Amino acid sequence: MRPIDPGLLPDGAVIGSEDRLSIAGCQALELATEFGTPLFVYDEDHLRARCREAVAGFGDGVAYAAKAFLCTAMARLAHEEGMQLDVATGGELRMALLADVPPDRLILHGNNKSIAELRLGLEVGVGRIVIDSFDEMDRIEGLVAEGLPPPTVLIRVNPGIDAHTHEYLRTGAVDSKFGFGLAAGAAAQAVERASRSPAMHFKGVHAHIGSQVFETSFFERAVSTLGPFVGLVEAEELSIGGGLGVAYVDGESAPTITEWAATVRAACSAAGIEARLLAEPGRSIVAAAAVTLYTVGTIKELAGVRTYVAVDGGMSDNPRPVLYGSGYEAFLPRAVTAERPRMVRIVGKHCESGDVIIRNGAVPADLEVGDVLCTPVTGAYGHAMGSNYNMVRRPPVVFVRDGKARVVVRRETYEDLFARDEGVPEPEF
Ligand code: LLP
Repeated sequence: MRPIDPGLLPDGAVIGSEDRLSIAGCQALELATEFGTPLFVYDEDHLRARCREAVAGFGDGVAYAAKAFLCTAMARLAHEEGMQLDVATGGELRMALLADVPPDRLILHGNNKSIAELRLGLEVGVGRIVIDSFDEMDRIEGLVAEGLPPPTVLIRVNPGIDAHTHEYLRTGAVDSKFGFGLAAGAAAQAVERASRSPAMHFKGVHAHIGSQVFETSFFERAVSTLGPFVGLVEAEELSIGGGLGVAYVDGESAPTITEWAATVRAACSAAGIEARLLAEPGRSIVAAAAVTLYTVGTIKELAGVRTYVAVDGGMSDNPRPVLYGSGYEAFLPRAVTAERPRMVRIVGKHCESGDVIIRNGAVPADLEVGDVLCTPVTGAYGHAMGSNYNMVRRPPVVFVRDGKARVVVRRETYEDLFARDEGVPEPEF
């Protein structure tokens, strides 16, 4: 197998002297020593470049989908680069507020927003609420009747497009928990009610067809399907959601944000849509910006069966292989361009056989216990979906830039882990 495809590495990755990996001027092996493993390393300039690309492609209305990766540093960075923020829960909303993102730059999502979440959104004055159900409209009307200010809203429409992606990542097919069906007439009813209600200002239409979508034709189809409706209801804004796919493994290629934006814009023109175009990329902003560094702890060669290479993290820092069967690549930061002839299964340290990071991973022949192993393209939905399974502490996140690394999320401590347990007065070890 060939060496790792450099196209999967962050923009700031350089293969330096002795074939070692550095990112934004920081040596990967030194980062592993300094901060320990597992470790998420994000190339800050890569993140900034993707935010700028999104703003250039879509204009001011474009939002970063915070669910892909969120901490105050990321929220600030996206805001500084001119993006709004899509927040999907009260937790994400609070995190964005803690980062001092102005509330009017926030778009509140969620298919089952609680009264408390809506109340906070109305109190702080979020820029948009994307309404997903009639029950939500009842709740907003109740809150406005209490004296809270009426929000500006988009109606989430389900266009009935079956994008080719994993079943769990599809959101725009007819059978979905998200949005109001277009064909069924629910979308028209929702817009009518929102337009009539004194408790909300109807501004436009939102659609998100799914995530990790490689073919831009699905977005074109969504736009052409929505076109007549957007005109009919006189929507001033149309958000096409997020969903642009990214390459995770050798040989994959995905459209750039610029190409995606151009395709969607052209589709809007072709459909005669005059509404202001908005979008919400998450994965395409952050996925390739980061790598995860692990340390190899055990290597088991099962004669005639396979070799298991176990690292010090696993499904608690990257549940995507287990959840979606997602593929990743691995390589050694001490020998970036080494051939990878050895096929192994890379697993984590959790107590279940499903805890696989790479089912069939190609690695260099001399991989050994103690090596730092790197998996690229782990910036989206890894840290965000991390867990404490087996009481494993979640890894830290460092941002690297101009040869400097800063910890933006520290490693979880055992005190953090036990803090909610009423039976642990003060951890002693
Ligand atoms: N807007 C809405 C309304 C969404 O539901 C999502 C993703 C996005 C934007 C951002 O989509 P992106 O550009 O990141 O594809 N955990 C899964 C992905 C779930 C995506 C959920 N919604 C994964 O790891 O692949």
